[in-house]
Amino acid sequence: MGLTEPGQRIAEEHARRVREMFAKISPRYDALNHLLSANIDKRWRRRVVNEVRPLLSENSRVLDVGCGTGDLSLELFENTAAQVTGIDFCSPMLRFAKIKAPQVQFIEGDALRLPFAEASFDGLTIGFALRNLASVERGLSELARVLKPNGFVAILEFSRPVVPLIGQFVRLYYRRLLPWIGGIVSGSRDAYEYLPDSISKFPDQQTLAAMMREAGFEDVRFDNLSGGIAALHTGHRR
Ligand SMILES: C[S@@+](CC[C@H](N)C(=O)[O-])C[C@H]1O[C@@H](n2cnc3c(N)ncnc32)[C@H](O)[C@@H]1O
Repeated sequence: MGLTEPGQRIAEEHARRVREMFAKISPRYDALNHLLSANIDKRWRRRVVNEVRPLLSENSRVLDVGCGTGDLSLELFENTAAQVTGIDFCSPMLRFAKIKAPQVQFIEGDALRLPFAEASFDGLTIGFALRNLASVERGLSELARVLKPNGFVAILEFSRPVVPLIGQFVRLYYRRLLPWIGGIVSGSRDAYEYLPDSISKFPDQQTLAAMMREAGFEDVRFDNLSGGIAALHTGHRR
């Protein structure tokens, strides 16, 4: 999927801002994730691993895209037989991943230009990273490219609450509390204003499922987690 020159410049600028933002909050990223989600983020990542574990053997190669500080990669490594690789384009985030999970292979690289040949992996996971890419469509087609036919993808991402009361609470929380706490603890209020902003721009459950089918995945389905605050989308490469 080619980009025009201005399109390319906008995408590069977006990537630069996202990379700098994660570099800045990297020392506090894990603590804030757990604090701001009351540890629910750990349950959501465990859910991803429970979903994909039956699909994996010791010969399986899994890539965790946008692995950040490595929580999902480590969860996969500890609870499946697969060979796990994590990739992220923000080296300060990866530095923490390598300390936390020295047994896992971590690589610096761009999710929109994965440094792997076609059909390299049996499975892919991507946790809270798809939303941050300059283009969700290009991200999905790059994921499909490196996946073997019938390989699985599991996308964990913030989504649209399906229970009205939860929706109201979350909106209030995102707009008021989250930037305030995030700003104090990480020193970067911007990053925690960007979070709700990026969530509101991200496709809802059905739209993301349709985009996955468009990108070459089949058996696409999703489960709402915590009333749709997050969703886990899964599918297989055609
Ligand atoms: C919210 S963090 C999620 C980290 C981790 N997966 C987790 O579950 O906590 C998003 C990560 O995606 C990474 N990221 C964003 N855009 C990327 C891209 N184009 N290529 C590689 N990594 C990217 C960021 O550097 C950041 O570490």
